[in-house]
Amino acid sequence: MNTPYRSLDAIAREAGTDKGSQWHDYMHMYAHEFARFKDEPIRFLEIGLWEGASAKLWETYFPKAELHFLDISFDALKYRSGRSHYHLCNQEDPADLQRFLSQVPGPFDIIVDDGGHTARQQLTSFSHLFPRVQSGGIYVIEDLHSSYWGGTGPGSTIHFLKALVDEVNFIGARTGRASQANVPDEVRPEMTFYRDQVRSISFSSSVAVIERR
Ligand SMILES: C[S@@+](CC[C@H](N)C(=O)[O-])C[C@H]1O[C@@H](n2cnc3c(N)ncnc32)[C@H](O)[C@@H]1O
Repeated sequence: MNTPYRSLDAIAREAGTDKGSQWHDYMHMYAHEFARFKDEPIRFLEIGLWEGASAKLWETYFPKAELHFLDISFDALKYRSGRSHYHLCNQEDPADLQRFLSQVPGPFDIIVDDGGHTARQQLTSFSHLFPRVQSGGIYVIEDLHSSYWGGTGPGSTIHFLKALVDEVNFIGARTGRASQANVPDEVRPEMTFYRDQVRSISFSSSVAVIERR
């Protein structure tokens, strides 16, 4: 019996997104990760609209959220509401991402990447958008199975994310003290942005969740 999962999955299935249990079954992960944001006036961004089913899902689940969706094309869009903000943007084009961020600077409490799922798209988007995640907020990369199909070596998203595990553990490995709030002065120059700003990274089937400190 898991009521939050069941009710969220029912919304996902009704909306028609492949995030529901009829396909990827991501709502176990989302019920867990999104519970603390559910009734808050958060700012939310999802990359990848397709027909708009996930816009319908998140509009229902987050009654107080400011919702943004971006896609390279609106050609497939069937559901378009006045509640959400829709943006044309190419997630693998740094200049286009900067243009989007000049219009919607954030910070965002939640960013979900459900776009084109290539490494270049996922990594370009992450490098530009993760710095705009609010402290305590999360960045979700969906459909990581695609990262295994072209090899898992350097350049792949899964390779980058595995390396991020080492960045999260850097301060403990370097000093024997896990607190990121008490970095010794002599180690401070080694604190890269990700070492300093990624509080946690977790994986579930085909999804990574990266939390900002
Ligand atoms: C899997 S669908 C999104 C599904 C939707 N989130 C849902 O759950 O119903 C992926 C979307 O990513 C978009 N996409 C593909 N390449 C993109 C790019 N370079 N920039 C932005 N969006 C892109 C596609 O146009 C498509 O609409």
